Amino acid sequence: MDKIVIQGGIPLEGEVRVSGSKNAALPIIAACILTGGWHYLENIPRLRDIETIKEITSHIGMAFEEDGHCLKVNSDNITSYVASYQLVKTMRASVLVLGPLLSRLGRARISLPGGCAIGERPIDLHLKGFHAMGVDVNLEHGYVVASTDRIRGADIFFDISTVTGTENIMMAAVRAEGITTLHNAAKEPEVVDLASFLNLMGARIEGAGTDTITITGVQELHPVRYTIIPDRIESGTILIAAAITGGNVRIKGCTAEHIGAIVEKLQDSGMDIEKQGEEIVARGHDHVRSVDITTMPFPGFATDMQAQFMALMCLADGSSIIKETVFENRFMHVSELRRMGADIDINGGQAVVKGKAHLSGAQVMATDLRASASLILAGLAAEGQTEISRVYHLDRGYQNLDLKLAGLGARIWREKY
Ligand code: UD1
Repeated sequence: MDKIVIQGGIPLEGEVRVSGSKNAALPIIAACILTGGWHYLENIPRLRDIETIKEITSHIGMAFEEDGHCLKVNSDNITSYVASYQLVKTMRASVLVLGPLLSRLGRARISLPGGCAIGERPIDLHLKGFHAMGVDVNLEHGYVVASTDRIRGADIFFDISTVTGTENIMMAAVRAEGITTLHNAAKEPEVVDLASFLNLMGARIEGAGTDTITITGVQELHPVRYTIIPDRIESGTILIAAAITGGNVRIKGCTAEHIGAIVEKLQDSGMDIEKQGEEIVARGHDHVRSVDITTMPFPGFATDMQAQFMALMCLADGSSIIKETVFENRFMHVSELRRMGADIDINGGQAVVKGKAHLSGAQVMATDLRASASLILAGLAAEGQTEISRVYHLDRGYQNLDLKLAGLGARIWREKY
C-alpha cells in the first residue's frame, strides 16, 4: 500500500489545472446504459471510483475504449441487470445503474450499498420514487429487486434533497410514459451536468439546477459526445492548500459559480480570490481569520469540503464552529487532526475548532475520501513531517492530488509500506 509523506511549511506557488468531476462522471457513465451506440465522454477523471463504475457496467455488458482524453463507451449489448455485493459495497454511487437499467431493460437486481464510514446513507428515497413510477420494488437477500412493464411519469416529492436520488429518478424518467416532476430536487452542478448530457441525447428535462425538475418522457435517445464539468471539490481543496500555506495559486479550467460558498468563506478568512475568465487566482496570507460554516445542499457550503475547511480553521486566529447537517458522523478526520496538535471539540453534529499557531507533523491515517484531503492540507502547513497511510481513500476521488501539489512546490511524495 502507498502512504503519502509531506514536509510541511512551504507556501504553494504556481498554476494547476483541475480534473473532471468525479460526481458528474459517475452518473453520466451510468446514463450511457440508456441507449446503444458509441458515447464519447471527454474530461473523465482517472480515479478508482471511475474504474469501479466501469467494472460494474462492464458486468452488465457495456464496453469501454480509451482514446486519449476521451472515454468511448458502447452500450449496444446490455446483457445483464445485476450489480453484485462485491462491487457495490466498495462504492455507494453504484446504485446509479438502477434507474438506467429499469429504463433500458425494465428490471434490475442491485445489491444494497449498506452503511459506510460517514453514516447510514440509506437509498429509501430512490426506491420510493421508483415505486411511484410504477416499478415493483422488493428487498431480497440484501438486494434491491426491481421490475416494471412500463415506467410511468409521476409527481415525486423528496423529503430530503438527495443528489444521486434525483439523478437516479431523472434517468429512469427520460423514456417514461408521460411527465415526471421532481419536487425538492437536488440543485448540485453535477445534477445539472447529467441533465445537459441527457438533453443532448434527446431527453426533455427542464428546471435542472432548481428544486423542481420536469422530465417529459421521449421515445428515443441517441449517443453523443460530451465534456464533463471540472471537479469543484478539487478546485476548493486546492484553494485551501493555497490558503493554509499562505501561497499564491492560479487554478485553470474551473467554474467559479460552482464554488461560490467556498470562495466566500475563504475570503471571509482573509484570502484574496479573483475570478479571471475560466481561471481563479488566489493569494493566502500568514494570518487566517476564524470563520463559522454550516454544511448544506448546493448552493450552500458542500459537505464534501467540510473536512478540508476544518484543517484551515485549525490554524485560524480564534474559534470557529463547524456544523455538519448533511451526514451524521462525518467527523472521522477530527481524531487524526488532533494527533497533529489541533484543538477540536465535537458535540453532536457540531465541531468547535480553536485555532492554534502551529500544527505538528505526525503519522496519521486517512479514514475516507475527504478526510484524506484534510490531512494532506494539514500536513502542508504543519511543522516537520506528516505521513498519511491508507491513501487509497484519496485515490478513489482525487486525480493525482499529490502530484498537482508537488507541481505547486509542495514537498510531498509517495512511499510503499
Ligand atoms: C452525493 C455525492 C457525495 C456528497 C453528497 C452530498 C455522488 C456520487 N456523491 O452523495 O459526494 O457528499 O451527495 O452532497 O454524487 N438520504 C436519505 N435517503 C435516500 C438518499 C439520501 O435519507 O434515499 C440522505 C442521506 O443519508 C444524507 C442526505 O440524504 O443525509 C443527502 O445524501 P445524498 O445527497 O443522497 O448523498 P449521495 O447522493 O449519496
